[in-house]
Amino acid sequence: MANNTWKAVVTTALLTVFSTQLVKAAWKEYKLSCAANKNNIASQPRQYDEDLFREQLARNYAFLGEEGMRKVKEQFIIIVGAGELGSWVCTMLIRSGCQKIMIIDPDNISIESLNTHCCAVLSDVGKPKVECLKEHLSKIAPWSEIKTSAKAWTKENSEELFFADSDSPTFVVDCLDNLESKVDLLEYAHNNKINVISSMGIATKSDPTRVSINDISMTEFDPISRCVRRKLRKRGIVTGIPVVFSNEMLDPRRDNILSSIDDECCAINASRDHALRHLPELGTMPGIFGLSIATWILTKVSGYPMKKNEVKNRIKFHDGILETFQRQMTRFSEGNHQSSLIGLKEVGYIVEEIFRGKSPISGYSTKLALTKWDADKEVSLTNLVLLTKDEQEIHEKRVLENGEKLTDVYSSEVLNVIERTFKEEQYYS
Ligand SMILES: *[C@@H]1O[C@H](CO)[C@@H](O)[C@H](O)[C@H]1NC(C)=O
Ligand SMILES: *[C@@H]1O[C@H](CO)[C@@H](O)[C@H](O)[C@H]1NC(C)=O
Repeated sequence: MANNTWKAVVTTALLTVFSTQLVKAAWKEYKLSCAANKNNIASQPRQYDEDLFREQLARNYAFLGEEGMRKVKEQFIIIVGAGELGSWVCTMLIRSGCQKIMIIDPDNISIESLNTHCCAVLSDVGKPKVECLKEHLSKIAPWSEIKTSAKAWTKENSEELFFADSDSPTFVVDCLDNLESKVDLLEYAHNNKINVISSMGIATKSDPTRVSINDISMTEFDPISRCVRRKLRKRGIVTGIPVVFSNEMLDPRRDNILSSIDDECCAINASRDHALRHLPELGTMPGIFGLSIATWILTKVSGYPMKKNEVKNRIKFHDGILETFQRQMTRFSEGNHQSSLIGLKEVGYIVEEIFRGKSPISGYSTKLALTKWDADKEVSLTNLVLLTKDEQEIHEKRVLENGEKLTDVYSSEVLNVIERTFKEEQYYS
């Protein structure tokens, strides 16, 4: 009997403990499922809790303010190119509370993408880039509307791609790596007054402190910028396009690459894009460029005050060159008439675009001066050459003063380079 009583006590005790545990477990289960329901909004797109949105974006609300965040939410941003650069732009815009974006890219994720991409994983390889991003981004921000197109953007289909939606884009981000399409896209946005921001050369750059955002006309030491500037100029666009770029100068040990970029990009005929894709590139840099773009857009649209970057361009340097050139013109008493054709803008163009900041004779880029080239021709963009001061003195003495023939003074190699440069300029002007 005592034995049975003992058994009953133990059983009751065990049952009590067990049922308490059971109730506890059930309660936990219930709570978890509530939480899951609250968070399981991914399966129900665009149904979300405003509280959850605010909790997720609390820091941005604190930074940009209520009004700023309202503006961020209202944007419809189109990102053209969803690779190494575009993936970072899309992701941070979505993480920051943009509610509507469109991503355009015809390519699939490749194994190489994993080195630079924002979120692609091994199992994404082979998937369309736009699908990969949409999948990841809807898990981050189920409230967002992410439109995609796996078409290549072209001038011809831009209307269809940009304006199919009832909303017009408030911003277009150029993340293309094909130079011709890039210039087409920038021209299209500029002419149609769509806000745009673009990215210049990423390959061969490695200094994160040299990346900045400025007007295309203010870019320097970057062969891709130079090339885009020149192509846009030919289409009548000189300023008005913000770009992220790096003014890091190329390591001189890579100088052959630099001239090959210059030649590839700016040569009128080149199969440039193939070459550009195979330039050495550090995997971290596209992210830095992409995050710079996303940050710029967020602060811009939310009205957050940004101090303008010091204009680090070379106006002073160009001014010095202009002065020495004007003195040369005075020495040959061609004074006002001819030298008035050449102002600061022209000097900037000749130095940066035509001669890429260096003497075509020695390749030196310090102590530069402009000189009239052929003594018998008028001053023009195709009769001015950028030389070092020493070279210019010799040129002035022998060619302009003593009237020696160019062919007697210079090797045919030098003359060819200069002839090719003038020919290129004729093409661009
Ligand atoms: C992407 O992958 C699909 C399916 O594998 C294929 O049909 C398509 O041609 C690929 N697209 C490109 C641009 O390589
Ligand atoms: C471009 O290519 C064409 C044909 O290949 C050639 O005739 C022309 O001279 C080239 N132009 C330049 C500037 O190299």
